[in-house]
Amino acid sequence: MKVVAIVGSIREKSYNMQLAQFIQKRYAEKIEVEIASLKDLPMYNQDNENEPPQTVIDFKAKVKAADAVLWITPEYNGTVPGVMVNAIDWLSRVDKVMIGKPSFIMGASMGNLGTVKAQLHLRDILFSAGVNSPQLSGNDVYIGAVHTKFDQTGNLTDEGTVKFLDMVIDNFLSWVKKYV
Ligand code: FNR
Repeated sequence: MKVVAIVGSIREKSYNMQLAQFIQKRYAEKIEVEIASLKDLPMYNQDNENEPPQTVIDFKAKVKAADAVLWITPEYNGTVPGVMVNAIDWLSRVDKVMIGKPSFIMGASMGNLGTVKAQLHLRDILFSAGVNSPQLSGNDVYIGAVHTKFDQTGNLTDEGTVKFLDMVIDNFLSWVKKYV
């Protein structure tokens, strides 16, 4: 099973990127996770959506080739960060590569609510007509106070969180199998 992880933070030491890398390593025998960085993705522009820059073509191809998408998002001002919305705008147009492709959302933030608001908004966006992605319900991964859960080398050290991830990743895989 091939999953593309789309991470909504482009900062160098992003906890959400560390989470994506943790998942990539820990579950390598069960899933092939490719991490799509949004760092070089230009701002969506309807003027060139039919002939977009190469980075957009490559990004869309990566998503198209995956069996499912794992959205790993921080929360900015109570909602989804702009880089992630920008990525969705590209994906939602022309060949609309997300339609029918299963999604699973998770996120980490320094606040106690662990991206609850951002994830609710992201859920709504992923149900919109140009995206129309089936989503795994339940299994909500809200990692709050994330700065206390990773060590200096980027390892997720919080045992409860790791145990929970072990369970939800298995649930995610069983669910995605219905679609591939
Ligand atoms: C934040 N942060 C934040 N945290 C939160 O729990 N709720 C929020 O609404 C916000 N809003 C917010 C806005 C902006 C512009 C920034 C830069 C930050 C804090 C956020 O959780 C923290 O910076 C995380 O570390 C961001 O995720 P990455 O970059 O570590 O993946």
